[in-house]
Amino acid sequence: MRKKIVAGNWKMNKNSSETADLLTQLMSKIPDTTAEVMVSPTFVNLAEAVKQLADSSIEVVAQNMHFAEKGAYTGEISSNMLQSIGIETVILGHSERRAYFGEDDALLAKKVDAALKANMRVILCFGEELQDRKGGDHFKVVESQLKNGLFHVDKSQWGKIVLAYEPVWAIGTGETASPEQAQEMHAFIRETIAAAYDQDTAQIVTILYGGSVKPANANEIFSKPDVDGGLIGGAALVADDFAAIVAAI
Ligand code: PGA
Repeated sequence: MRKKIVAGNWKMNKNSSETADLLTQLMSKIPDTTAEVMVSPTFVNLAEAVKQLADSSIEVVAQNMHFAEKGAYTGEISSNMLQSIGIETVILGHSERRAYFGEDDALLAKKVDAALKANMRVILCFGEELQDRKGGDHFKVVESQLKNGLFHVDKSQWGKIVLAYEPVWAIGTGETASPEQAQEMHAFIRETIAAAYDQDTAQIVTILYGGSVKPANANEIFSKPDVDGGLIGGAALVADDFAAIVAAI
């Protein structure tokens, strides 16, 4: 089912007490909404966040996960570990994971499979870099990321997939894709899914936009018909800003 979602990706920000503070503020500031609201603190603060939000409708999600169920993977976290503390959704393939930690489509395909096998929900991030857009290759890049990272997934599993289009040039730069650029790409993503699967699958998948979404531009971006919400970085760390973005959906 196509849903509205606003998810905050906290990245490597906020220690334990800062996490608790921000969550307390969010609980009082986030307006009532039919959209799903998610926050993603760092791994070490997930368990506490789940406890703190036990009576709230805000969902706690993870920023990453390993593909193996367990074993000799020093420093990594498995789906089972996440689920054992109440996490049922994981962000995969963020551009920072791709750029700084060498995650490519083949690895992400394994992570997607591992999450789905564990019956977790996946928010798969993808998007072109500045040079791709300048060279007019942005559609090709996005199509190939989807084909190589996701399109092996059986149609029956697509209810567990959320997409996040995040043009790399717009992440943390203050530079936002225009609402028209976001809409154009989101429509292209649906066409690509319809061609690989069918129209139904394309129409029910939730596609988030990410990249410098702020209270000042959220309304316009979210008003586009194929934009179903946002993955928010910097503005998710400020309770008033995140609450205003949730209000915009
Ligand atoms: P930003 O980050 O909102 O700070 O641009 C978005 C993201 O990386 O998901």
